[in-house]
Amino acid sequence: MTENKHQFRAIKGTRDILPPDSALWNWFEQTARNTLESYNFREIRLPIFEETELFARSIGADSDVVNKEMYTFSTAHDADRKEEGASFQTYSLRPEATASVVRAYIENGMQTLPGNAKLYYVGPMFRRERPQKGRYRQFYQIGAEVLGQSDAPAIDAEVIEMLMIFFKRAGLTRTTLYINSIGDKNCRPPYVELLREELRKLNDEATSVGRLGPDSQRRIETNPLRVLDSKLPEEQPIIAKLPRISDHLCDACREHFSKLKEELTLRGIAYEENWRLVRGLDYYTRTTFEVIAEGLGSQNAVCGGGRYDGLVELLGGLPTKGIGFAIGTDRAILSIQESGKLPQLPALAVFVAWMGPAAYPTAVNITRKLRQAGLAVELPAEEMRFKKSLGLADKLGARYALIIGEDEVTSGTFTLKRLADSDQKKLSEFELLEYLESERRDTRA
Ligand code: HAM
Repeated sequence: MTENKHQFRAIKGTRDILPPDSALWNWFEQTARNTLESYNFREIRLPIFEETELFARSIGADSDVVNKEMYTFSTAHDADRKEEGASFQTYSLRPEATASVVRAYIENGMQTLPGNAKLYYVGPMFRRERPQKGRYRQFYQIGAEVLGQSDAPAIDAEVIEMLMIFFKRAGLTRTTLYINSIGDKNCRPPYVELLREELRKLNDEATSVGRLGPDSQRRIETNPLRVLDSKLPEEQPIIAKLPRISDHLCDACREHFSKLKEELTLRGIAYEENWRLVRGLDYYTRTTFEVIAEGLGSQNAVCGGGRYDGLVELLGGLPTKGIGFAIGTDRAILSIQESGKLPQLPALAVFVAWMGPAAYPTAVNITRKLRQAGLAVELPAEEMRFKKSLGLADKLGARYALIIGEDEVTSGTFTLKRLADSDQKKLSEFELLEYLESERRDTRA
């Protein structure tokens, strides 16, 4: 018989989030939930896959995300399964969730709800990008979206405030917020045309300022705004010469952007304007923003967002305004880890070091009571010598070892040993519970 020696590994671009990192992830996501809910956002749970067409129509068929990066599969329509010549439906793993939120908003008639729909989501997204530090094929986002009838700049400002307050609470402080306005359906098309003409001219001239690379050359025709995103050093002198959208906004967009800046100042939020912040998804109008964090190398955007006023209509709904963002959790966590400023996270409180058959029932009972009191407790399933028990308690990072041997059983007490300094006390069950509970309250405070 041949042995199958195949060693299974996580697929390229995917990874396992293991303890203790998973505790940091949970804490980060819980802090986000608390912050977002304090702004009256509520969670929406969405499917992981949708019709491919939903993403193509929202994000743009020419965008890199749709064009190159989606995981797409076809399957026969349920109704057609058994028939010959079954028609096929094409689905994709979601590369982002704004399109799904808008689909759900329309499908569930959420425009009839009072006030704005303020929704948030937490979960994995999938993009077939080249993996590197901070860039994965399965990555995680925390996103928030506001949908409704108003496009008041105060909504944009509140969304950005919420984001920055959350980053502060999560200890992500070495960040920069960039903002821009990319105009609307009135002023953007003429600007894009102007940009295209300038790009063609500069490219044809191929003068002392240099030449555009093949990607940017292609984008002159498909999506000239994306040229502004280029990080290629040789393209920078060309880009510096291009017309800026800020000089071509219509009055309504200019007014909206200047109100947004006033609102941010009112809320004490520091920002930098970046005229090249156009974002890679087609649905944006007016406000766009991004947050960059330190310690991440080239993949340093920890959040991207903006306004998408026409998207609901584009997907078949009634005219509706929208704005939102998505935080890249993988990158945010990396940045927190690199800063070395980690929060104190729940750890193993008590390791129950029991020895002798008589001690076992006492150990089982007190373990249950301690766990009921909210403490994390490890109870070895098999008897161990005290020395080995204490060694393991130490390696597991327990704060205390609770020693239960023959002496303790006879005297009806417990020996509690603090592992950091070996301080030891004998306690009754009542005293033990009191002591550990008050200690737990103190460490939480
Ligand atoms: P996005 O800029 O494509 O926007 O993604 C948002 C964030 O997700 C990025 O800033 C980054 O932190 C993270 N991210 C994206 N791709 C990867 C990857 N391959 N690996 C790790 N992290 C990644 C959106 O997705 C929009 N839906 C945001 C939005 C919501 N706009 C309006 N509402």
